[in-house]
Amino acid sequence: MKKKNLVLLINGPNLNLLGNREKKIYGKITLHQLIEKLKKKANLLKIKLKTFQSNSESKLIEKIQKSKNIVKYIIINPAAYTHTSIAIRDALLSVQIPFIEVHISNIYARENFRANSWFSDISSGIICGLGTQGYFLALDAIYKKIFKKK
Ligand code: DQA
Repeated sequence: MKKKNLVLLINGPNLNLLGNREKKIYGKITLHQLIEKLKKKANLLKIKLKTFQSNSESKLIEKIQKSKNIVKYIIINPAAYTHTSIAIRDALLSVQIPFIEVHISNIYARENFRANSWFSDISSGIICGLGTQGYFLALDAIYKKIFKKK
């Protein structure tokens, strides 16, 4: 498997609680189960998938900074930092790694404060409101866009 096929999945705060947290909004699958499934799919697509979750803004930024020239594409659900973190936005801009923004819920159909994202305008695409299926769709999009160049 070529190093250039490395994709990093980043999940922000409280997504470690998937499967327990607000199940009606975020579903029943745990983060661990979700990652297992995503890794299987990535394997089929010949994508090497690394994953990272943190509740800490600084750890998320450090992970992004260290990914420069190593990671080909990022899938990120910044969770609540979507609406607040110019620092994570700047980190993504500084490493110049293209990324897809994923949200499990439809952030435009919830509280007003969730309708602002500091990431959408600099992302290559946004998937939101489709549940955890959004992560799988992001992998498909990366496969088609990047690895198959279609
Ligand atoms: C979320 C939406 C955010 O508003 C929220 O803070 C999250 C998860 C989503 O996946 O729907 O933690 O990013």
